[in-house]
Amino acid sequence: MKKWTREERYRVLKSPDEIRDLHERIVKSDYRQTYHIQSVTGLLNDPNGFVWHDGKWHLFYQWCPWGAVHGLKYWYQTVSKDLVTWENVGVCIRPDMEMDNAGAYSGSALPGKDALCLFYSGNRRDENWIRVPNTCVLKMYDDGRISKLPWPIFGPNPNYTEHQRDPKIIYHSELKKYFIILGAQTKDKRGCAIIYRSNELIDGWEFAGELKVPGFENFGDMWECPAIERIGEHDVLLFCPQHLSIEGRGGNIHHNGYLVGKMDWETLTFEHDNYFHFLDFGFDSYAAECANNNPTEGNAVLVAWMGLPDTSYPTDEEEWSGCLTLPRELVMRDNRLIQRPLPALSALRDGNVELIDGKLPRVCEIEIFCSGDVELKLFAHEDGSGGYVFRYDDRTQTASVDKSGMEKRYNQNFGEKMERPLANPLTHLRIFIDRSSVEIFANDGDGVFSSRIFPVDGEDRLIFEGSGKMEIWKLRPAIKDEFVV
Ligand code: FRU
Repeated sequence: MKKWTREERYRVLKSPDEIRDLHERIVKSDYRQTYHIQSVTGLLNDPNGFVWHDGKWHLFYQWCPWGAVHGLKYWYQTVSKDLVTWENVGVCIRPDMEMDNAGAYSGSALPGKDALCLFYSGNRRDENWIRVPNTCVLKMYDDGRISKLPWPIFGPNPNYTEHQRDPKIIYHSELKKYFIILGAQTKDKRGCAIIYRSNELIDGWEFAGELKVPGFENFGDMWECPAIERIGEHDVLLFCPQHLSIEGRGGNIHHNGYLVGKMDWETLTFEHDNYFHFLDFGFDSYAAECANNNPTEGNAVLVAWMGLPDTSYPTDEEEWSGCLTLPRELVMRDNRLIQRPLPALSALRDGNVELIDGKLPRVCEIEIFCSGDVELKLFAHEDGSGGYVFRYDDRTQTASVDKSGMEKRYNQNFGEKMERPLANPLTHLRIFIDRSSVEIFANDGDGVFSSRIFPVDGEDRLIFEGSGKMEIWKLRPAIKDEFVV
């Protein structure tokens, strides 16, 4: 595997021509997705700036152009009218100023008076390579013009370490105030979230305080991508605690989860029911973001990076990695988040598939109405061995996935089996398969399992054991693998 020098990782992209050949090479990969947002070249990680504005959805991603490596990060833009069909727009935030010289890190977006405002972490490194995190803004006018505020709206807070980032901008309509919630690390290395507030969107920001989350004062050493969302009648605190071993999560130490409760914006306290829920029970999901300015009151739409920090993927050697999950509609049921596939996804269905010799297409949707125990093998061998296995044990009402049977194994030390007790017996499965991913929605999104998979020749069978009715659809492509930079 290629060893990257710092110079290579932090090289500035001066012209699209520098990566045109790379794109031409990677589009030939057997693992390029057809209806998921994926890196145009190089590496994709977090979704950023997910927002409804000017009649469309804008969704950006963290992008390092050069290869499957975390280096100088840009924001790459995609847009959609329906959250299903996406268009590549090109690079949007470039780390081209002193305040963001080592990367335009994650953040969020909110429409302002005259432009869409993108709030991001300017990852500055000084001459000794010491990190200085800034919170910066770029305005995107409706005619496509962009203008970056040449100074941060605020700099690092001296009472926390260099780990302060990922601004989530929130407008509180009753208090008529803006809030920014940032992930941070205390000087004694505990993960937390800190809050800034202002009466205006761009000016007047002041530090409000640290978010109080009783019982979670010692939960990982850094919280990445925190957000507070109102979903139905509840507030939800989403965050990614890092470097934390939790039973049942394999060796993975980077989690994405949430607490359900009530946010008090005066005392900055998040009261909750003391249960950290995981968002996803597959192997590749992190840094989830809900869309701002969602026109559908009460519900939310969430998208995540189908990947994890500190990992590597089989496509790394092809010099690209990373895609986003499908956006999901969030609703609250019995104090847990239900992530439903969007109704608009049905538009991708392009006729039924009859399996010949159990041969599974590489791009399809499977729907199963079932009862009792289930074992479903995807991309198994002809003799029935191997595959990516979904099981449901009716006695314990537990669904699980196991990827250890796939030939291309990766990130084994992060775990290869994962379980999810369901709230009710399993009756329904929807499974979205793209060329290198599987997303399983059990009982309409009560259990969600998102994973990358990389089948090879000979791994092509579907084997279903259980009682139920199965239907399979071909799916149309929803995003062109175009070189737009
Ligand atoms: C999460 C993260 C963020 C950071 C970004 C850098 O995956 O580490 O905290 O802003 O990725 O790409």
